[in-house]
Amino acid sequence: MKIYGLDPLARLNAAIDSVNESHADAEVCVITGDLAHSAQPEAYKALAECLDRLLVPCHLTMGNHDDRAVLRRHLPDIGADSNGFVQSRLQTAAGGFYLLDTVQDETHQGAYCKARRDWLQRELDAFPNDDAFLFTHHPPFKVGLEAMDKIAIRNEDALALGELLDAYDNIRHLFFGHLHRPLSGSWRGISFSTLRATNHQVWLDFHPSDIIAGSHEPPAYSVVLIDSDQLVVHTHDFLDSSPRFALGHWQWDEWNKVDPREIRA
Ligand SMILES: [Fe+2]
Repeated sequence: MKIYGLDPLARLNAAIDSVNESHADAEVCVITGDLAHSAQPEAYKALAECLDRLLVPCHLTMGNHDDRAVLRRHLPDIGADSNGFVQSRLQTAAGGFYLLDTVQDETHQGAYCKARRDWLQRELDAFPNDDAFLFTHHPPFKVGLEAMDKIAIRNEDALALGELLDAYDNIRHLFFGHLHRPLSGSWRGISFSTLRATNHQVWLDFHPSDIIAGSHEPPAYSVVLIDSDQLVVHTHDFLDSSPRFALGHWQWDEWNKVDPREIRA
């Protein structure tokens, strides 16, 4: 099945092949939601089969295109807090990875209600000496893309989440999905990043509109290197097949004499 003219399963498999080939030494993989386009059971089954091939332990957050009950049925290992939200804390060598549930049923807009915030606060309080890394689907702020900003985490929840996080000095980074665009910055002093999706993308267009401008820009995944004093986010266009070559002017001159079709072959 294709979505917007692209095959999401083929692309996910290509991403997995790429990770297995080049980044199998990663400690963990996190997918930040929208695991199926319309919460179809067969899509979750296919996802589970794909992830069985992934050599890196994988953890999931859910997105606005997912359904908690269907997701749980097909991916029963997905975490849950005591209220049934798909939230969990994962201990890693770098610190605690907090996989947060920002989905509100019946709407594409994100939410992060008091019950979820209370869970996060309890977890952060339980590990005060560990660095903390947050993973959400929706961003808790606007990014200047009006149609996407309308489906970010709703304002009152975003504000309350920000006030909660203000009390902690160990939040190292916020990773999120949802935007289908590569962008990074900081929010209330917390660095953040997101990336292009593995299927379709959102075009950069700041004109006010209710319509999300989709695009076929290339898909990507990120490779994140975390040390105690730095965090680096690399973005990898895993379908790119353009020529590779050794940089240096003489090599370039030599390479430039070659018919590009030979190099690509
Ligand atoms: Fe989304």
